Amino acid sequence: MEYTMRSIFWDENLQCVKVIDQSCLPIELRYLKLHSSMDVAEAIQKMVVRGAPAIGVCAAYGIALAARESSHSDKDKLKVYLHETGQFLLATRPTAINLTWAVENMLSLVDQFSGSVSELQEALLSKAQQLADEDVNTNLAIARNGAELLMDEDVIITHCNAGALATVDYGTALGVIRLAHEQGKRLHVYVDETRPCLQGARLTAWELTQYGIPYDIIVDAAAGYMIRSGKVDRVLFGADRVAANGDVINKVGTYMLSLAAYDNGIPAYAAFPMSTIDFTSPNGDAVPIEERDPAEVLELSFQGKAVMPEGATARNYVFDITPHRLLSGLITESGVLYPPFFRSLAVLKHAGRNL
Ligand code: MRU
Repeated sequence: MEYTMRSIFWDENLQCVKVIDQSCLPIELRYLKLHSSMDVAEAIQKMVVRGAPAIGVCAAYGIALAARESSHSDKDKLKVYLHETGQFLLATRPTAINLTWAVENMLSLVDQFSGSVSELQEALLSKAQQLADEDVNTNLAIARNGAELLMDEDVIITHCNAGALATVDYGTALGVIRLAHEQGKRLHVYVDETRPCLQGARLTAWELTQYGIPYDIIVDAAAGYMIRSGKVDRVLFGADRVAANGDVINKVGTYMLSLAAYDNGIPAYAAFPMSTIDFTSPNGDAVPIEERDPAEVLELSFQGKAVMPEGATARNYVFDITPHRLLSGLITESGVLYPPFFRSLAVLKHAGRNL
């Protein structure tokens, strides 16, 4: 199977991390160079790099960069600095658990390392590379498992962007659609715009165009009507965190989409890597929901003019919680999990697969 672009990679010549600047798409496909852990933190916070798996891998490179930028020749002092950098990176976005997962992975290597400072620097870069490569393989496995659920001529609604851009490559929910398309299934995708940052309209639509998969963008609020009037066969989205009972935390709007699917007997699936499962959160209510700058909501123009009255205020919660009872299945690299999810997730945990 061929894939064409990596959204994050290490540039050996320039000795820096390169990321696709998602804030420029679809107008321009541009790579941004990240030279320091501060550059990485800023890219994640400003959503230049976004999507749970992409954020995780980018943060892993952030720790590797921190080890190289530090002036500490004393290994213990360097280790303290790397832990501080880890905390700093974790504070950039609170909801996607892949960020915690990746930082903890890197810091556990730091804690166990007994070699020299330069060997630690090398080991951290190799570890970040390994997490990046694993992400691609994981997504291909998710795609293989999920594609079996899609039928020829299916019409699918997806929300936000869970594609190659949101991962290192290939994507999770969009990877499932991509593989089914490559298998020859004739699909049509309805893409929620995904207010306020328009990850659907800007990024998912851009990716689907690259893959030659037919789609239409719909306003988020149209999804309920489309589902109720029999225009949709399946709902498929990614996840930023999955609680131990199977509640899925994903881009705001996922809950309403899942409610409409459930009410009309349409199956709704979340696709995600096992690094997105948070067994320490018993249910979705235990998960912090990021609230971002109201400006993202307020800076809307229509026909070239500002929409909101001067002085308008807004709340900008960017994720929501979809109760597990609304979901038909959870697609992971280890297979598709079915209800009761607390049990199927526990079985996965006890099997010890990468968790
Ligand atoms: O705020 P974002 O754009 O980082 O939110 C991303 C999502 O909600 C995605 O659906 C999720 O991270 C899955 S990406 C494979």
